Amino acid sequence: MKRREFLLTSGAAAGALGLGGFGFAQGAQELTIQPASFALRDQVTTGMVSLSPDAPPPVLYGKQGEVMRLPVRNTLPDYTAMHWHGMRIANKMDGVPYLTQMPMGQGELFTYEFTPPDAGTYWYHPHCMTMEQMAHGLTGVMVITEPEDIGFDSEQVVNLRDFRLDEDGAFLPAYTQRGAARAGTFGNVQTANWKQGPVYDHAAGSLVRLRVVNTDTTRIYKLHLDGGAARIIAWDGHPVEIDIPMPSADEPLLVGPGQRVDIAVVMPGSEGRSVALMAKLPGQPLKAMASLRAIGSSARRDLQDLRPLPLNPVARPDLDNAELHEFVFGWTPEGGEPNNGFCGSLGYNFWSINRTPWPGDAAEGVGPLATLELGKSYVLRLRNESPNLHPIHLHGLAFVPLRSNLRKLPSLMTDTMLLLKDEVVEIALVADNPGDWAFHCHVIEHQKTGLTGFIRVV
Ligand code: C2O
Ligand code: CU
Ligand code: CU
Repeated sequence: MKRREFLLTSGAAAGALGLGGFGFAQGAQELTIQPASFALRDQVTTGMVSLSPDAPPPVLYGKQGEVMRLPVRNTLPDYTAMHWHGMRIANKMDGVPYLTQMPMGQGELFTYEFTPPDAGTYWYHPHCMTMEQMAHGLTGVMVITEPEDIGFDSEQVVNLRDFRLDEDGAFLPAYTQRGAARAGTFGNVQTANWKQGPVYDHAAGSLVRLRVVNTDTTRIYKLHLDGGAARIIAWDGHPVEIDIPMPSADEPLLVGPGQRVDIAVVMPGSEGRSVALMAKLPGQPLKAMASLRAIGSSARRDLQDLRPLPLNPVARPDLDNAELHEFVFGWTPEGGEPNNGFCGSLGYNFWSINRTPWPGDAAEGVGPLATLELGKSYVLRLRNESPNLHPIHLHGLAFVPLRSNLRKLPSLMTDTMLLLKDEVVEIALVADNPGDWAFHCHVIEHQKTGLTGFIRVV
């Protein structure tokens, strides 16, 4: 069977056939998806996937409003496609197999080219062979800088993710049937930038922009900061316009898979003191995922020295004229075996959106969950009918959480909404980016066993 025979009914994918259309980018270095080895613990773990043979996927930097060219080359025998999580870019650059492009076979190149409309913290990961390639390491952070200087002295990216390893450092299976049907399968080695509890030096008394990204396939991290004055300045890429109380050990911040938080940190004034990003992991004492250690003499900076982050140009929904669409997330009534269109299937379906499990990548005759009119405002009611938590992610658009039946929601701009047990949340958006946008749970075992669909904007 040919990859093209797997095309969805959508006409949207027709323009995205082939190898990218831009050819080799001038001056842009190829990002080569390849096997890697790395000492995640004492022993070297082989069979990892990265963009170099012996290091984590690098932080990719771009500037708001400036074109980025990212030629991605696949050298693995498995298919792949790269997705830029949270970026409101053209649909054909979104990296979703069959929906926006064909999966890339071994040796193939796809040049992604887009202009980030928003500044902030984003990330990238494959959207084909997602479970295997993410679990083996292929998750990286993207930083899109503001055109103006906010006033930080330095910044620190922290990519949080787990690996599932045996005693010898070899990979255990990334998923289990039991996990996929419940909260997901958890890793047993927690890392920050592929290291356990790394310590990063920053000038004493200086202002550091800490960018924390949860790129794990499963874990909802419960985080707080220990030591140093700090303020949450952005959430899921977008500046927060309200005061969010700093989380504490008793009331940690829940950061689900796919979510990001930017924190402005004042480093301790005296050399050697640290600020630690702490996590509460089930059945374990509090653990420092990463630490910032003060060096040199105090710069005596203050949070007041920072200029506010400029707001991203995201349209505000017109709630008085917004049409309502409902989505129910739950178990699947009939289960069944999903289709496998070269992008990896776990072999069973447990989950559904609106009681229909995603039939698998490239299944024929699959339509959108909803069709939205370009430029109009919508309210989406998201109902979690299950006892498990689901970080629900929408591609290509940003939305505002409005209300929940369980809690008061801070007014934020986001692309990933963490739904609690039995929670019903309403979110609102302006459908201002045309295309077929994937809409799925970011617990990859849920995504790959039915909790996936797409929303069409025309
Ligand atoms: Cu972060 Cu559909 O993905
Ligand atoms: Cu995404
Ligand atoms: Cu889920």
